[in-house]
Amino acid sequence: MEIIIKATVAEAEQEVAAIMARQVRLKPSCTLGLATGSTPIGVYACLVAQHAAGGLDFARVTTFNLDEYVGLPADHPCSYRAFMREHLFSKVNVSPKHIHFPDGTASDIPAHCAAYEQAIRKAGGIDLQLLGIGRDGHIGFNEPSSSLASRTRIKTLTPQTVKDNARFFGSEAEVPRHVITMGVGTIMDSRQCVMLATGEGKADAVARMAEGPITADLPASILQMHPVCTLVIDSAAAARLKRRDYYNWVYENKPLWQRTGTV
Ligand code: F6R
Repeated sequence: MEIIIKATVAEAEQEVAAIMARQVRLKPSCTLGLATGSTPIGVYACLVAQHAAGGLDFARVTTFNLDEYVGLPADHPCSYRAFMREHLFSKVNVSPKHIHFPDGTASDIPAHCAAYEQAIRKAGGIDLQLLGIGRDGHIGFNEPSSSLASRTRIKTLTPQTVKDNARFFGSEAEVPRHVITMGVGTIMDSRQCVMLATGEGKADAVARMAEGPITADLPASILQMHPVCTLVIDSAAAARLKRRDYYNWVYENKPLWQRTGTV
């Protein structure tokens, strides 16, 4: 796992946006896996700015979002569709027919989840998956104890995640208890994973993910097994890492051809 530590949240967001923009430029018909939550908002703002400046074309890009709340229709203001519309899709030229979400209102959830997996396969798999991390180490909504080989399915949020996400809904009572999420195995099939984590509240999960044992108790730890995974963090989220100096050294000595500014 490559670990990039930036001094500020804004620099970390710019780094992730640069990695994503590079992917889009290298392969204009790429498939992106996208995340919601507070963390990627600044990344989407950077991508929107690059698009507005004429430097980034999403016309041929296909997207698959990681997750959606069960029971929330697409037009619900707290649905992840609404989130993505607000922060990215209404501001760049992604074609609506290339946008995919789990459907939280599907009547046959297992069949819908199987169809979502099939749609990802049909699109040729995910080239780059953007990830955040929960304070309990979840990726997508694969909460602790999730199978590390899991596929898209229904999951029950932990009380902690319900509490963490209440800020979007107004109260804990309004947060749905169930979600449809890509599985850990689905995420691991992506050709590249890029995780952004910022703030001291993520420092413990980040350290356990990058330097602890691989365990279903912290689903994000499986990313240690991913062949092309980059973790981008600000200095607050890096606070508990043991090998910070080495990660900085690796980044400073990165070969020119591997740097994001090159494409
Ligand atoms: C959302 C998702 C989640 C979030 C995680 C962190 O699509 O997949 O795993 O990335 O809950 O959320 P924030 O960024 O709000 O701290």
